[in-house]
Amino acid sequence: MSHPDSAADAPTDADVDAKADAAGADGDARLPPKLDAPPLVGNTLQFARDPFGFYDRLDERGDAVRYEVARQEFCTVFEPEHVERILVEENEKFVKAEMFQEAAAGFAEQGLLLTEGEVWRDQRVRIQPAFTPEKIRSYTDAMVTYAEQLGDRLADGEVVDVEDAMSELTLKILAKSLFDVDVDDRREVVREAAAALNARGDASGASAFLPDWVPTPKNRRFERAMADFEAMVDDLIAERRRDGSADADDADSPDDLLSILLTAEGPDGTTMDDAVVRDQMVTFLFAGHETTALALTYAWHLLGRNPDKLDRLRAEIDAELGDRRATMADLPALDYTGRVVDEALRLHPPAYVLFREPTEDVQLGPYRVREGTAMTVPVFKIHRDGRFYDAPDEFRPERWDSEARSASNSDRPEYAYFPFGGGPRHCIGMRFALAELKLVLATLAREVAFDPTYDGDPDLSMAATMRPDQPMEMRVRKRD
Ligand code: HEM
Repeated sequence: MSHPDSAADAPTDADVDAKADAAGADGDARLPPKLDAPPLVGNTLQFARDPFGFYDRLDERGDAVRYEVARQEFCTVFEPEHVERILVEENEKFVKAEMFQEAAAGFAEQGLLLTEGEVWRDQRVRIQPAFTPEKIRSYTDAMVTYAEQLGDRLADGEVVDVEDAMSELTLKILAKSLFDVDVDDRREVVREAAAALNARGDASGASAFLPDWVPTPKNRRFERAMADFEAMVDDLIAERRRDGSADADDADSPDDLLSILLTAEGPDGTTMDDAVVRDQMVTFLFAGHETTALALTYAWHLLGRNPDKLDRLRAEIDAELGDRRATMADLPALDYTGRVVDEALRLHPPAYVLFREPTEDVQLGPYRVREGTAMTVPVFKIHRDGRFYDAPDEFRPERWDSEARSASNSDRPEYAYFPFGGGPRHCIGMRFALAELKLVLATLAREVAFDPTYDGDPDLSMAATMRPDQPMEMRVRKRD
């Protein structure tokens, strides 16, 4: 990252700001407005103390706003057109922000989520065959079977931590579909690694801004947990190699993600190193497990608070499925189920903010954003912008009905809704996740409902994902 002020004779930030401000509204060089900040500490403490309030303040200030956290210049954008430019139209001018890479240091650095350029492109091409519609169809049996098993286990009147139950379910589904393993006895290792990653990424703790080599308790916990987790993944790889089923020519070999990782050749004819395979598995176990678990948890919360929507959901499931198990072929007809999923992801996008860094100066509308700025795209704010949504805080799956969409919402910009990101780096697991969310909801909702035992909406925290700050305890109500 190189700033204009890194060379001795270059203008300082203040010079550049003053010049840009002087350029005024008609000058292309205008920088986005900057949030006032105490000298030296910048906006760090304001942000750490109350990240939600901080984002509200930024939002009030404009569509693109600069500020300073941990001595790094940030810029947050709230305008869908800017988002589209960053993620899609000019995506080649951006990398995942260095600040984000630092926060994730020690976590799957060679995995698909964090690599860049040719290395990323080559990985994406190799991994894509694990996510074709045909492949996803082959995973749906595990999605429905495990959801049914959970439904059978739940007893009427019992109080369960729904996040925990969804987390166990989505991990089982993911591990079975992508790696063909049963993770029951290994769940603790995955859970501790996820918790440690979240604790370290938690924006409200000042240690989130310390480099990872500072031995804070959070960093030590993270290192221990990641070491255990990686050892577990190494065992899985070794098991697969030992079984001989990683051989691409073996007709009996499973062609799941793990075998693709072990056998797919890159342009130079070589396969991935074990260390890279391990980072990919760590990436997928995290990226594909917590996100879907949270989406389901929020969906149950919202349905628990809105019984009329649950009734409508059940009416659809009864009409479309009767006593049959749901399959992939049913998804197009499970229209309202899809709306519930879309609306839960709007109100509570698990990947709540995206990070990017321009590798050269870029123009966003009237503003110039300088190379090296840490840019954040707050999905969770844009998803509740009153310019694009009526009653933005309300759970209204109907807003996605096709008629409603064409009548009142046709002028909503595409990037006012992007729970899976956009452009070449959009979520590779999107189709997998949408199939899983709909099938799990349809399978469980016909049998059980969850009534929240707490009041109101849960407090949330900005960790690696946007997570509830409290146990999501809900009472199981079995259907008569
Ligand atoms: C509700 C569930 C999910 C949500 C909300 C979600 C969201 C996202 C978002 C927003 C991105 C883009 C990040 C960025 O642009 O910086 C992303 C990327 C990614 N997601 Fe997901 N995701 C979900 C489920 C999954 C699943 C099920 C998998 C795997 C099975 C997965 C694997 C990945 C990977 C590997 C990437 C990086 C892709 C790349 O950079 O090429 N995600 N996800």
